[in-house]
Amino acid sequence: MLIEENEIEIKEEINSKDFELIVNNFKDTGKIILNRKKSLLLNGDVLQENLFDKEYFDLIITSPPYNVDIKYNSHNDDLSYDEYLEFSEIWIKNCYKWTKNQGRFCLNIPLDKNKGGQKSVGADLTTIAQKVGWKYHATIIWNEGNISRRTAWGSWLSATAPYVIAPVELIVVLYKGEWKKTNGSKISDITKKEFMEWTNGLWTFNGESKKRIGHPAPFPLELPYRCIKLFSFIDDIVFDPFAGSGTTLVVANNTNRYSVGVEIDLKYCELAKQRILNETAIFF
Ligand SMILES: C[S@@+](CC[C@H](N)C(=O)[O-])C[C@H]1O[C@@H](n2cnc3c(N)ncnc32)[C@H](O)[C@@H]1O
Repeated sequence: MLIEENEIEIKEEINSKDFELIVNNFKDTGKIILNRKKSLLLNGDVLQENLFDKEYFDLIITSPPYNVDIKYNSHNDDLSYDEYLEFSEIWIKNCYKWTKNQGRFCLNIPLDKNKGGQKSVGADLTTIAQKVGWKYHATIIWNEGNISRRTAWGSWLSATAPYVIAPVELIVVLYKGEWKKTNGSKISDITKKEFMEWTNGLWTFNGESKKRIGHPAPFPLELPYRCIKLFSFIDDIVFDPFAGSGTTLVVANNTNRYSVGVEIDLKYCELAKQRILNETAIFF
């Protein structure tokens, strides 16, 4: 969409002012790890309601801990399922509070889990999100081609207790207020080919290597890249409450968006900081 040049300048100014406000407020609630150009990386706990003092975010892209006993540096990923749902409700509610009207939320979660009993994680977290105010838009199925999960058959060649496992994850797309986005710069940067491919809600691309990144559960750059280009305008503020190795912030920077990430673990904060510094010069 064509837009008057002075109008673009005004919108940019609005978001950079919000950015300054976030930095000033955050000084009292957590530690600022990196504040560089349009990227802000914060060491803090997303369960804390006062982490941000008002509605700042246009788009949230995140992959929370899945509670599948991943060995994070500090987070305990082995809660009871009820505790996990309580944890989920708190942070999803906080994110709702910190998101602008018309803001979107791309929630990357498993469809279900079978470790420690079969649980409908995708359905349960979607229900919680709607309970705290988010509205449902769609679910993208991410086929990550992870065939290593096809090992637990249950009762082999018998109907006694067979196990069915789909090697996919979900990206649940939610929003606050109205789906039609009228605020922000109104400048989209998605190509015709990307738009046509990505509005088909079956996405196929590989997962990220834990070893290459040095984090136990990173998502690939492609995931935030698609969400950012499909669901946000240039200069929007993108938020990742579980920043991990900083993937969302790297992509947001390279696609000309502001970004804010919160991560509880100092070791991962350091990793994310290095990635942002090293990878944000590259436009892929
Ligand atoms: C699935 S990983 C996110 C990975 C990220 N998407 C990436 O690409 O690297 C979840 C992250 O949440 C962090 N975490 C766990 N509990 C947290 C909390 N209460 N507040 C902020 N971060 C938390 C963990 O340390 C972990 O790095």
